[in-house]
Amino acid sequence: MSGYKQEVNIVTRGRRKIAVIGAGNVGATCAFVLAQMKIADIVLLDIYEGFAKGKALDMSQNANVLNYDGSITGTADYNDIAGAAVVVVTSGFPRQPGMTREDLIGKNADIVSQVGTGIKEHAPDAVVIVVTNPLDLMTYHMQQVTGFPTERVIGQAGVLDSARMAHFIALELGCAEEDVSPMVLGGHGDTMVPLPRYTTVGGIPITQLMSQERIDAISARTASGGGEIVKLLERGSAFYAPGSAAAIMAESVLNDRKRLIPASCFLTGQYGLDDVYIGVPCILGSNGVERIFELELTDDELSSLQGSGEFYKKQLVDVLGY
Ligand code: NAI
Ligand code: 2OP
Repeated sequence: MSGYKQEVNIVTRGRRKIAVIGAGNVGATCAFVLAQMKIADIVLLDIYEGFAKGKALDMSQNANVLNYDGSITGTADYNDIAGAAVVVVTSGFPRQPGMTREDLIGKNADIVSQVGTGIKEHAPDAVVIVVTNPLDLMTYHMQQVTGFPTERVIGQAGVLDSARMAHFIALELGCAEEDVSPMVLGGHGDTMVPLPRYTTVGGIPITQLMSQERIDAISARTASGGGEIVKLLERGSAFYAPGSAAAIMAESVLNDRKRLIPASCFLTGQYGLDDVYIGVPCILGSNGVERIFELELTDDELSSLQGSGEFYKKQLVDVLGY
């Protein structure tokens, strides 16, 4: 069968650019999902040039098979990210069995410093979506390194954590995944805050569809969802859902879609927290975080969210020296 392109996106080709830093598992998956969206040219940058070039060439050769358009370039040179409207940062070490995300702080902070300096110099107008763990801390660090306005530096966690919760709910109810609208806030770690009261299936809160015992079990499995996969893989961590989640965020920014999603945002008093990045519901558009929503929370929910924020604030001071 001919792979002749039938849906060539001439309007965007060669004009808009998304850079993905880190061509490893998450970065390559993100680039691959973005390629299939046909929304921009993609630059995949890694410290190992051949690794990035090889992945980009492999993905480019898949264009005929999957019928996508636009260029995918591999590089180690920051000059190539010039003009990127969105930069997704996935460079960094992943967890290994027995590690928490916080165990990655030292090594990954150095990588974020290096990458942030490159972005600041070569893509100063970009919206930056950070994926590197420990997510909420690395997002804060990226904002400090680049000096970009806080709304232009965002962390990916909530889309992934919510998708995990959605999957467990769909399994429990035997319903379609797409009918689940999940909501998980807080940090991307043990302190994350699944919100069953704001999680619906076909518009019905899950609190009306399953027992509290099952909801608690699903919330607990969601919070340890990344660790469950690390344990199974035995080397490295999840990447299909994380890479896709980052791509969804990049698309919302690039196309000014204004999706309302949970993401790690800089707080300035919302939920009683300030000077910290933590997962909250926001609108993502071409300016980055365009609005943060303050949900009405019960005392328990609020105290969990504040506990999560305070945990990361302490880490920022104690470990990163902010
Ligand atoms: P990986 O090891 O497969 O890929 C990381 C890539 O970063 C490697 O190709 C490496 O060469 C590159 N890299 C290292 N230093 C670099 C530098 N200074 N400049 C450019 N590239 C550099 O790891 P994977 O699985 O892709 O995970 C990447 C990061 O994403 C990890 O920190 C992981 O913990 C995190 N992660 C975050 C999630 C989230 O929801 N926020 C979910 C899954 C992973
Ligand atoms: C995950 O949640 C490890 O953050 C990574 O899969």
